[in-house]
Amino acid sequence: MTPLRPFLFAALGSFLLATPARAQRPGQCTIEVQVDQPGAAIAPTLYGAFFEDINFGADGGLSAELVKNGSFEFFDPISGWSKVEPAGAVGGIGVSTEQPRYANNPNFGRLTVQAAGPGCGLRNAGYRGMGVRQGERYFFSAAARLVAGAPQPLRVELLDPQGKVIGETRVALDRPHWVTVEGCLTASATEPKATLRLLLDQPATLDLDAVSLMPEHTWKNRRNGLRPDLVQLLADLKPGFLRFPGGCIVEGRTLPGRYQWKNTIGPVEERRLLINRWNVEFADRGRGAHDYFQSFRVGFLEYFQLCEDLGAAPLPILNCGMACQYNSGECAPLGELEPFIQDALELIEFANGPATSDWGRRRCELGHPAPFGLTMLGVGNEQWGPQYFERYQRFAQAIRARYPQVKLVVSAGPSPDGAQFAHAWEQIRRGRADIVDEHCYALPEWFLDNTHRFDAYDRQGPKIFMGEYAAHPKGVGNAASHNTWGAALAEAAYLTGLERNADVVTMSSYAPLFAHAEAWQWRPDLIWFDNLHSYGTPSYHVQRLFSLNRGDTVLPVTTAGVPVAANGQPRFYVTASRDTASGGIILKVVNATTGDVTTTVALRGIGRLTGPAQVIQLGAADPAAENSFDQPAVVAPQTTELAVSGPAFSATFPALSLTILRLQGKR
Ligand code: AHR
Repeated sequence: MTPLRPFLFAALGSFLLATPARAQRPGQCTIEVQVDQPGAAIAPTLYGAFFEDINFGADGGLSAELVKNGSFEFFDPISGWSKVEPAGAVGGIGVSTEQPRYANNPNFGRLTVQAAGPGCGLRNAGYRGMGVRQGERYFFSAAARLVAGAPQPLRVELLDPQGKVIGETRVALDRPHWVTVEGCLTASATEPKATLRLLLDQPATLDLDAVSLMPEHTWKNRRNGLRPDLVQLLADLKPGFLRFPGGCIVEGRTLPGRYQWKNTIGPVEERRLLINRWNVEFADRGRGAHDYFQSFRVGFLEYFQLCEDLGAAPLPILNCGMACQYNSGECAPLGELEPFIQDALELIEFANGPATSDWGRRRCELGHPAPFGLTMLGVGNEQWGPQYFERYQRFAQAIRARYPQVKLVVSAGPSPDGAQFAHAWEQIRRGRADIVDEHCYALPEWFLDNTHRFDAYDRQGPKIFMGEYAAHPKGVGNAASHNTWGAALAEAAYLTGLERNADVVTMSSYAPLFAHAEAWQWRPDLIWFDNLHSYGTPSYHVQRLFSLNRGDTVLPVTTAGVPVAANGQPRFYVTASRDTASGGIILKVVNATTGDVTTTVALRGIGRLTGPAQVIQLGAADPAAENSFDQPAVVAPQTTELAVSGPAFSATFPALSLTILRLQGKR
C-alpha cells in the first residue's frame, strides 16, 4: 500500500462537522473503474468561464486603462478629477459640451488657468490609484483644443502618493481646434497608488477629452489592451468557452440601461459610456460604487479576440427585451421586440458573416477579416416567468430561421429549484431547447448534497449549462462569505457530478470571475486583484484542475464502502475519464470528510499500468483557509508521483482534499 502524499489536517470546518461522515472501516472502501467500457463523450466546453463587469472586472480591472473618467461622462462629470492649484496659481476646471470632439460622449473637461504659478492643472485619481511598474513605459493620449493662450507644452506627470514625480513627458499644445496629442513616459518606481497630473505653465484655456494612460505592456501588447496578469490567469484555466458580458449587466436595471453590443465596438472614444448596474446595486449594503461606469473598452471585438486567444468558444448572452427582474423588470412590449431580435441576428452576422454582409464587413473594417466561429448564443440572462418565455420564443423562431446551426441558451431562472425553476422547465419541455442555463449560489452543503442532481435528468432532453454557480460559506449576499477551501472543496465535489453526467451537462462556469480588492460588490469570486497583483482562490485551483484534467470520455466508476454524511449523501466523490490522445486514465477524487480515506483502486479492463501515477493534490488543513495577496498559495496544487505496479492498488486520500490521479495503462 502506497499512501498518497499526506497533508496535515487538523482544524474542522463547521459545515463539515454539521454533517459528520460515518466512520469508514479500514479495507472496506473500493473504487472500481471500467476502463474497457467507455461512456459518454465529455464536451470540450464542460469547463468554461463567466465574465461580467462586476467588482471592477472590466473598467479598473481587465481593461489596462489607468485613467478613470477620461471622457468626463460620469454622472458627476469631474468624478476622478481634481484641481491642481498651488500657491501662486489661479485656475479652475469645468465641463462643457460646446463643439464636442465626440458626439456619443459629448462632455469634455475645460481647464482655465489665469495664473500658472509653479504649474496649474488637474489630476486623475485612477481606479483606486494607478498601478505602475518601474522601468515600464506608459502611453499618454488625449483630445486637446487650446481655446486661448500661448502655445505651450502640457506637462504630463505620474506622481507617487507623497507627490514625488515618478514619470513625466510633455506634449505640445498649439492648435485651437481638436487634435489628438500623444506622449510616452517611463515609470521610475513601482507604485500601486500613482496618480496622473496634467499641468500648464502659462495662462490658457484648454479643452481635454478622452484622456488615456495605457501601459505599453498589455496582453499581446495590443494598444487598447487588457491587463496581462489577469488574462494569463484566465488563460491558465484553459476555458472551453467564455460567457460574456454577464450576468445581470446584460439586463440593466432598466431597459435603457441594458448592455447593447453595437455600442461597444469601433473607436473606444466613441463607445457611449453607460452607468454600470453595480454602481448602485448594493449601495444599501455599503458596497455601492458611485464611480462605476462602463466605458466598454472591453467591448465585443475585444471579447471575440480574447476567445480566439484563449481557444475558448464564444458564448455571448444578449438582452431578450427585459430589464433585470430583481430591479425594474421592465419589458419591451412584444410588438416592439424587433430591434432586440435584430441585435441578436446582427451579432451573429458580425461574428460569422462574410465580408459581403453588412456586419461581416464591419468586422473586417475593424481589422478581423476571419470569422469568429460563433456557435452559441444566450437569449436573456437570468430570466424567469411567462414574460420571459413569450419573448424567448420569438427570438428562437427568428434566430433558428436564419441561423439553424446556432445553439440557443435558454434561462432556467435564478435558482436551481422552486416555483420559477419548475415553471421554466415546464416551458422548456414544451418547446425545443438546445441548452438550458441553470444558476446556483448556495451554501457549501448544497453542493455536497447535490452531486447526483443530474443523474435523473432526461438523457434525450436539452443539454445543461451550469451557467453560474459558487458556494457561499456564510450564505448568499453575506459579505462574510469568503473564498474558503471548504467552499472550493464543495464545488469540486459538485463538479464530479457534472462530469459523471457529461452526456447531459456540457457546460459550466463559476461566477463571478474577477474582483478588485478595494472595489468589489459581490463575493466570493474566482480571481482577486489589486492595481498590481492578482491571485487565484482555492475555487480557481479547483476549476483549473478539473479543466486541465478533463479527459474526453467518461469511464464508469463504482464505489463501495465510501463515507456518507448523516443525511445519507456522500462525502467522498469519484469520477473517472479517459484522454484518448494519450491513452491516459484520469481519476478525480474528492474526500470531503475530516479523516483520511484509504481505498483499493481497481482498474478493470487493462492488463498493467505503465509507469507511476501522477498525483495532483489540492487541500488545506483548515476548511476556512484562504489565499491572499500576501499568501497566494496557501491552497495550491502539489504534484507528486505514486508508484503503482498493477491495475489494482491501494491509495489513501487525505481528509479535505481533491486528488487527481493520472495513470497510463496497457491491455
Ligand atoms: O454573478 C453575479 C450575479 O449573479 C450575476 O450578475 C447574475 O446573473 C446573478 O444573479
